[in-house]
Amino acid sequence: MNSETNPETIIVYRNISQIVTMSGVAKNKGRHPTEADLGVVENGAAVVNCETNEIIWIGDSASLPNEYQSSANTKSCEGMIWLPELVECHTHLVFDGPRHHDYALRSAGKSYQEVAAEGGGIQSTLKFTREATEQSLIDKALIDLDRFQEFGVGVVETKSGYGLTLEQELKLLKCVEEIRHRTPVIVISTFMPAHMTPPEFKGRTADYVKEICDNWIPEVAKKKWATFFDVFVEDGYFNIEQSRKLCETAIEFGFGIKLHVDQFTDLGGAKLGVELGATSIDHLDHTSPESVKIVGASDTVAVLLPGASLYTGTPYPPARALIDAGAKVALSTDFNPGTCPSRNLPLMTTLACSQMKMTIAEALAGITYNAAAAVGLEDKMGSLEQGKQFRVCQFPGTSYEVLPYCFGELV
Ligand code: NIG
Ligand code: FE
Repeated sequence: MNSETNPETIIVYRNISQIVTMSGVAKNKGRHPTEADLGVVENGAAVVNCETNEIIWIGDSASLPNEYQSSANTKSCEGMIWLPELVECHTHLVFDGPRHHDYALRSAGKSYQEVAAEGGGIQSTLKFTREATEQSLIDKALIDLDRFQEFGVGVVETKSGYGLTLEQELKLLKCVEEIRHRTPVIVISTFMPAHMTPPEFKGRTADYVKEICDNWIPEVAKKKWATFFDVFVEDGYFNIEQSRKLCETAIEFGFGIKLHVDQFTDLGGAKLGVELGATSIDHLDHTSPESVKIVGASDTVAVLLPGASLYTGTPYPPARALIDAGAKVALSTDFNPGTCPSRNLPLMTTLACSQMKMTIAEALAGITYNAAAAVGLEDKMGSLEQGKQFRVCQFPGTSYEVLPYCFGELV
């Protein structure tokens, strides 16, 4: 024991059925995750400093150092599986208004874009969200965060983007600031004014982009209410040149970049993201083989959202090609009212394995280490190792394989 460590701040956990440490995944920075990289420890033990919430030691119970053997604060975790706490790296948490009719229209054969053209889509959520009070948005988001937590999630990234005036976007970002004080979940805030061109700028997207660059980005930067900046790079939303201008301005003001790219059409958004040094590029459903290679050779995390493909009935992203090209691949729900109203992150691993032919190791890396990397937190979480934060997703069972196997019924 470190001579300065107060024994009263130490907790020793023993007899943990299985610990999925993700040590090899972390060592390889999330590329090509294999079963061996999961660093599974049977009958594990962990020593935690509960003042700093840091892991002091972790390994198999038989190797627990002598000095911790008779600790007064010892807990048994028999029958439990431990994973690093899950990271949900792409959501649109703060919104109001139902969108079930969008789903009905899509079920009757309309596309996402056709539904949007008929008054559904982002603009319908915009209308309800603008009318909603801060309090009602906060209350709703807290319920959704509770549900995420029930699914083992401890970090949630969330985007603005259903306000689309400066005042309304600030309202949504302020809600996130408030939410952060009322939940144990670590909440990461992303500013996304370029979600669509709002009615006030109809037919004047270039003017809207200029307004965001000249006035909105500096204002949000000054308030320090968001870590990342995001754009919906898509036909009919923001083209490559507009997206580049927005991101370059955001970078100048200190934002990290996360982008919605190639969801419905391949505009070259993935390439743009890599070129800009984005922390993540998300969706990638229509990314070309040429762009896949570029993403694979980069440090930008590819965040795949199979729930949105399932729900909109559109193609799944080329997960196999991305992983084989060396990409760091994360998974997320994309929780939002239009294309994936689910908070079930473990279910995304089942979709990843069945529909995108990912292995269980790749899927688990996708909701832990690589998802942490997609929000810039991989040095503190995403694996269970000495010096990292003690943030654990714990569930009963005999094997971690139960997580994708249970098909969305972890709780
Ligand atoms: O990630 N693609 C853009 N944004 C969301 C959908 C938003 C909505 O339809 O309300 C997404 O799928
Ligand atoms: Fe999204």
